Amino acid sequence: MEKLYEGKAKVLYPEGEDTLRVYFKDEATAFNAQKRGVIPGKGVVNNKVSAALFRYLEAHGIRTHFLKELSDREMEVRRVAILPLEVILRFRAAGSFAKRYGLAEGAPLKAPLVEFSLKNDALGDPLICPEAVLALGLATEAELATLKATTLRVGELLKGFFAERSLELVDFKLEFGKKDGEILLADEISPDTMRLWDTKTGEPMDKDRFRKDLGGVEEAYQEVLRRVLGGA
Ligand code: TMP
Repeated sequence: MEKLYEGKAKVLYPEGEDTLRVYFKDEATAFNAQKRGVIPGKGVVNNKVSAALFRYLEAHGIRTHFLKELSDREMEVRRVAILPLEVILRFRAAGSFAKRYGLAEGAPLKAPLVEFSLKNDALGDPLICPEAVLALGLATEAELATLKATTLRVGELLKGFFAERSLELVDFKLEFGKKDGEILLADEISPDTMRLWDTKTGEPMDKDRFRKDLGGVEEAYQEVLRRVLGGA
């Protein structure tokens, strides 16, 4: 079947008229693809974790592009027009935020923070303020309000979901798409797109193990899948 699009971690194939098949790869990149590698089994973990989280969020009133799992590495989703924004929610300072403001990894925040980045690899996904999103016509004021409110609600739901599995959700990135004027949560939600720290040991259980060469990358992905599927 002919590819519609191939990204760094997933391949999209046409499925039905209004649907796509998403194939999750084992390839991993970091730092805007300056670092490349393979995490064996990652595609299976990310497909299954994303499917479980999309189902959980749908059950709690969040509209997503997810339709069903097709195989270990594939899911069927609604075709949407992806908004060129990455929406990040932070519960603690970490990663680029900690670096930008000179904070220790894990420093507390007074309140959960929503940030927007422009989805543009050539520019390195730069941070973008809501006023610039409006000035560039990337989203309307009403859409921005929906993105922010939905992301905060997703954060609240996922924080609880992972706390029951002895994982602290530190931050995560979401992407949204539009279909018939409606904004749907899209892309993936996986250890590639979240920071998850083991509640007891504080150990990162996500892509930071790959980014920072911490070792045990495959094992961490498998453990996250085990806890997600295993329940509380
Ligand atoms: P950051 O601290 O590097 O900005 O990352 C914030 C969150 O977003 C973190 O959970 C990892 C996730 N993320 C992505 O999903 N894709 C990306 O390209 C980047 C840079 C971060």
